[in-house]
Amino acid sequence: MYNPLLSYEDNLRQGPSPEWNAEGVFPRIHFTDKPKFSCLGIPLHLPLGMPAGPLLSAAYVKVALEAGFSMPVYKTVRSAAWKSHPWPNVLSVEKLSDASPRVRPLAQVIPLSKNVLGEQLKNGRLSITNAFGVPSAAPEQWSKDFSSLPDFAFSAGAMSVLSFQGSRRNGQGWKEFLDDTTLCARLAAEAVSARGGKLLEMNVSCPNESGAPIYTDLKALTEALDAAALALQDFPALRLIVKLGQLEPEAVLAVVERVAQRAHGISAINTLSANIVDSNGQRALGSGAEHGGICGDVIRDAALSSMRNLSRARQALGLDKNEFALVGVGGCFTASHVFDFLEAGADVVHAATGAMWNLQFASECARNFGVSFSDGEKQ
Ligand SMILES: Cc1cc2nc3c(=O)[nH]c(=O)nc-3n(C[C@H](O)[C@H](O)[C@H](O)COP(=O)(O)O)c2cc1C
Repeated sequence: MYNPLLSYEDNLRQGPSPEWNAEGVFPRIHFTDKPKFSCLGIPLHLPLGMPAGPLLSAAYVKVALEAGFSMPVYKTVRSAAWKSHPWPNVLSVEKLSDASPRVRPLAQVIPLSKNVLGEQLKNGRLSITNAFGVPSAAPEQWSKDFSSLPDFAFSAGAMSVLSFQGSRRNGQGWKEFLDDTTLCARLAAEAVSARGGKLLEMNVSCPNESGAPIYTDLKALTEALDAAALALQDFPALRLIVKLGQLEPEAVLAVVERVAQRAHGISAINTLSANIVDSNGQRALGSGAEHGGICGDVIRDAALSSMRNLSRARQALGLDKNEFALVGVGGCFTASHVFDFLEAGADVVHAATGAMWNLQFASECARNFGVSFSDGEKQ
């Protein structure tokens, strides 16, 4: 539904495009049975959603819900308007060098045309880089847009989520970042509770932010969570999921323990950082930055092994899945990938790259999970 040949602003303005979805249409399905799945006790028709990023506005969330994604995440918002990095923001990863935990891989990219998409989605081998810089509308705009979501976004086997993050502005220090995190958590919580929603997600793992991602530093992560908790104590009915990136296996137990003391779940993984070059070895992203996040097929193994580690830690800490959720994200394209994530310990699976140009993925999963639905009219 996202047109990578246009800027972020044009995609937001024009809304989701059926031309950029498989078969050129948006599927609409209606589940016909009672929900059999759940996340944190919230009933879901499918253990499937779309993570923060591809759903730019309420119009995008609505299309994802109608296609059958039971837990769509409205894109990460900020406490003030924030510009997107210049176009191009999304490119296709053609080659990836080997990486070690301390060496960033080199990703060679080409433009993402309809032909490239069609071919790579068909083969299940689509990997992309994306660099947007987490753009955001001003809070009065995004909260108004979020409030326009239909009732079925928060009931009857579906639960929409709002993602937010604190902002690190040039020249400002850590204290200002924490204050901004508290402010943004409050604004996001107000928007979600006004609609009768139950779930918020906090992003602490953007690989394109200035400075190291917060989640890799236990002290910084703890302070950011405490800053959000300060606002969320006034919203006891809301549940907070924390979006992390890939962790060193030996760090996982301490991180899960720390997050579980302050929040209700973890979603992982965010994109992996890589140096991005075109076929001439030149920088290729509109941001002009050397590196960007990569996602899709090439990160699935890392995402699955992260989920196994998170699940082991949840078990070791004696955490109940109805109290502390795990959301698997990364390289999920098929129902069999969804099964793999559930087997690795996830309660729900989210797909960005595998779903944003193939919304039929939800109905494929429903068929494979034996979940009954009827086809609605095509748009
Ligand atoms: C276009 C795009 C935009 C994204 N923006 C965000 C974001 O704003 N916040 C966030 O937490 N993750 C963001 N992500 C990361 C995804 O939520 C997800 O963690 C990642 O893409 C891995 O999943 P995938 O392999 O299914 O794409 C974005 C991903 C894509 C593809």
